[in-house]
Order: sequence, then C-alpha cells, then structure tokens
Amino acid sequence: MNRVPIGVLVSGGGTNLQAIIDASEAGRINAEVKVVVSNNPIAYGLDRARRHGIPSAVITKESFTTKDSYDAELIKTLNNHGVMLVVMAGFMRILTPAFVAAFPMRIMNIHPSLLPAFPGLGVQKKALEYGARFAGCTVHFVDAGVDSGPIIIQAVVPVHDGDTAETLSRRILVEEHRIYPQAIQLFAEGRLHVEGRRVFITGGQPVEGSIANPPVTISDE
Ligand code: GRF
Repeated sequence: MNRVPIGVLVSGGGTNLQAIIDASEAGRINAEVKVVVSNNPIAYGLDRARRHGIPSAVITKESFTTKDSYDAELIKTLNNHGVMLVVMAGFMRILTPAFVAAFPMRIMNIHPSLLPAFPGLGVQKKALEYGARFAGCTVHFVDAGVDSGPIIIQAVVPVHDGDTAETLSRRILVEEHRIYPQAIQLFAEGRLHVEGRRVFITGGQPVEGSIANPPVTISDE
C-alpha cells in the first residue's frame, strides 16, 4: 500500500514529530514524513529531521510582509514535497483561511487539553487552576478557527493533587505521542469521515465503561 506523504509543522522541541517519525520507521503507520517545516530556525525539531535524513525547511515570518504571503510559501513548500496530509506538531502560528482551504480536512493539530475546554496557550496550567479533575489531549482536523475543528481522538489523564503544570504536561505528552500516530494511521486507512463537527471512524471500537476521579468508593446499594 502506498504510504501517505505527510508534512510536519513544528516550532519547538518536536517530541510529537519524533513519535510520528518513530511510528513511521517502525512501520506502525502507513505514512512517511516527507518534509519538516519550522518557523523557528533553532527549533530542535529540525535536528530531529536531520538525524533521520528528512528534508526540512525554515520559513521565518520576518521574510514576509503578510500572513497570506507566508502561508503561500508554506503551501508551495508542502506541495513541492508531495504532501497529502499536513500535521501540526507544536507549530506556533495560526493558519490563514487560504491555507486551510488548500488542504481541506487534510490538516491535523494536536492540542494539550480536552477540547472544547481550554483552547489557546498555557492550557495545562489553566486546567490546574480551574480545578479540573481530568485533563488530556485532542487530535483534531484544522478549520479556520483556533483549536476548533472536528475532533478525531481524545485521551484523558487524571489531574493529581500534587500536580504542577510541568508534571501534568508530561502526563499529557505521553498520551499525545500515542494518539497522534494513531490518528494519522486512521487517516491513512481512509477510515475518517467528517460530517459537520463529527468525525466517524469506520470499524471503530466503542469504548466501554467510565472512570471517576477520585474513584467512586461507595456502593450502589
Ligand atoms: C504539545 O503539547 C502539543 O500538544 C502542543 O504543542 C506541544 C508540542 O510539543 N500543540 P512537541 O514540540 O511536540 O514536543
């Protein structure tokens, strides 16, 4: 089966990029990273690409006068590498409607909260401050809004009393590295169908049961 050519957009450390590269190299996903693009010339994600022999490009905002001309260059770079699916992995820019239209339902993002709770930045700290008992992460298709597109997968983690934003972020990141490759694989298998806001998954297994935090310890009788 042909592997889906993907382009990964990063701005920083790129641990999600690494999880995707590892899954691809191990044959766990039927997708291949064709190019890594960063808006930040010193993003560690660029080193990760280099180490795996993956072409990379740096597109800095200083070289462009408008967001549209920036995104036009981004589209050109991705198309030059034959990218079918755009994967945002910590890319700290909001895409223009023109970019979103160039890859309709072919852009994914990962966000470290259970959307629609806590869109935007610094969300692990916000979940803690709010007193949420559960946090987590969301992989979603990208639409013209911020963290607002149809949801593909979510993973839930408990918030512990002793958590800091760092410990909670680490717990969430473990799940990010599991669900992002999974979402890409579902796309590669052609199993994602978007109807309005809902994403239906062909052959998806329903999740049974529920969890409470703290666990329920009183009996029903
Ligand atoms: C992750 O927390 C992701 O959810 C958010 O940005 C962070 C990127 O981390 N969008 P990394 O660069 O993949 O390590």
